[in-house]
Amino acid sequence: LSFPSYTRRTLWGKVCPTAHEATAPTFCSLLNLSFMFQISVQRVTAAENNNNNNNKNNMSQQAANGVPCRGKVLTVDNMNPRVKKVEYAVRGPVVQRAVQIEKELREGVKKPFTEVIKANIGDAHAMGQKPITFFRQVLAMCSYPELLKDNMFPEDAKQRARRILEACGGHSIGAYSASQGIECIRQDVARYIEKRDGGIASNPDNIYLSTGASDAIVTILKLLVRGEGCDRTGVMISIPQYPLYSAAITDLGAVQVHYYLDEANCWSLDVAELRRALNAARQHCNPRVLCIINPGNPTGQVQSRQCIEDVIRFVKEEHLFLMADEVYQDNVYAEGCKFQSFKKVLFEMGPEYSSTVEMASFHSTSKCYMGECGFRGGYMEVINMDPEVKAQLTKLVSVRLCPPVSGQALMDLVVNPPQPDEPSYTTFMKERTAVLAELAEKARLTEQILNTVPGITCNPVQGAMYSFPRITLPQKAIDKAKAGHIPDMFYCMKLLEEEGICLVPGSGFGQREGTFHFRMTILPPTEKLKVLLQRLRDFHQRFTQEFS
Ligand SMILES: Cc1ncc(COP(=O)(O)O)c(C=O)c1O
Repeated sequence: LSFPSYTRRTLWGKVCPTAHEATAPTFCSLLNLSFMFQISVQRVTAAENNNNNNNKNNMSQQAANGVPCRGKVLTVDNMNPRVKKVEYAVRGPVVQRAVQIEKELREGVKKPFTEVIKANIGDAHAMGQKPITFFRQVLAMCSYPELLKDNMFPEDAKQRARRILEACGGHSIGAYSASQGIECIRQDVARYIEKRDGGIASNPDNIYLSTGASDAIVTILKLLVRGEGCDRTGVMISIPQYPLYSAAITDLGAVQVHYYLDEANCWSLDVAELRRALNAARQHCNPRVLCIINPGNPTGQVQSRQCIEDVIRFVKEEHLFLMADEVYQDNVYAEGCKFQSFKKVLFEMGPEYSSTVEMASFHSTSKCYMGECGFRGGYMEVINMDPEVKAQLTKLVSVRLCPPVSGQALMDLVVNPPQPDEPSYTTFMKERTAVLAELAEKARLTEQILNTVPGITCNPVQGAMYSFPRITLPQKAIDKAKAGHIPDMFYCMKLLEEEGICLVPGSGFGQREGTFHFRMTILPPTEKLKVLLQRLRDFHQRFTQEFS
């Protein structure tokens, strides 16, 4: 293998920050992925050494001229240490190597494959999904209002564009908006939520438009993080988890509190496990918030009504803030599974819960049938938030001025799509249904094919856009990997080098100690996905033989 060797020792030494994390070696080992950053740091350091040498010459001259030599103000040794600890596996070392391989292929280097198939990131358009026509028509007219005169666009698209432009400063989406987001769009979001949740009221004042869901998630975490030592805020996150959470928690100096999803039961969430994790965490931090992703990333499960109710009872009893990440709310495929929002269930549980439990829920334009990640549209709804805290939240978001107005416009179209009596309705529904049907088919195909491979077990992909199969690795492979790699990283790197398939090692999301996984998106076009699954099957069998 020609990929660089990354030592466990160096990385472990650098990245396990707390006693708590040191007791969770498997998850901590995901942090080993920091080698990606360390490599770039090494490269930068080499380049900077040259600069430094030049600087030193200049400096000695300057010193001679009476100017003190001080070197760089900001160095990797004196920079914010939390930033250095931040990890994000989805764009980690396997992906970096994939980009290099693509370059090598373009340069004519011979490989056992002609293209890299990327199934590492939930970026639907990058994998060939087509945008919804109506969305792009309205956005085109918002960007270039001259198009409003053009006959090629349907009247309902024009009406939407005019309405959005009228709500913009100077009638331009190039103007800043209110920090919480354009008012009429927040009203549309509130109406969408009411309709989705069977009439439960939503107040536009509780809606904050955001730069994707990521921005809103980090903002809420910021409000919650405080304290020192044993009083530091603990944030309960699932394992496996989406690494935005671990990254934000590290960046903000909070403590990760891990609760494990039950792989044997289709990655379900068990309140007894939540309680175990909470009680253990209370020994060393102050857990104040529970984060739930439903439908799940990277595990693809859809939570049952019962589970949601149990979680709501738990957060009330334990006096926790609830963060409900619902960005995959339209990505539900499995028969018998249905998306139910935490807010809906909360309100249906009666005033004892609906008037007390504090929560924020998140949605985005990046997933579902839209897949418009690049527009960075999103919103959050806050419920039962203390008015004084809400004022602080409004202040906090105002420091960043506003989310992208084009993303806000797109969010408006998502929550306020063409209606049955409008000219764009038929095409819109056709396109939406086609995308979701294809995703459902690919979810089924992924589970079915992976489960035919001895040594791979894959839970049903009930929702979202990922599978997180468990792989059995021969002991010899684990031993060999241990010399320099995390075993599932070793597996994924070898898969990339030999088959041109780019996945993310399970260690990037956290997993139970001694188990190994990878995360794979279901986004490649169906024919490419079949090729990917076939090659993966061949590779796994070869890998198992090689190390048996
Ligand atoms: C569970 C989950 N939450 C939040 C996000 C962030 O999405 P965005 O910031 O693009 O809206 C993602 C992206 O993949 C995700 O999977």
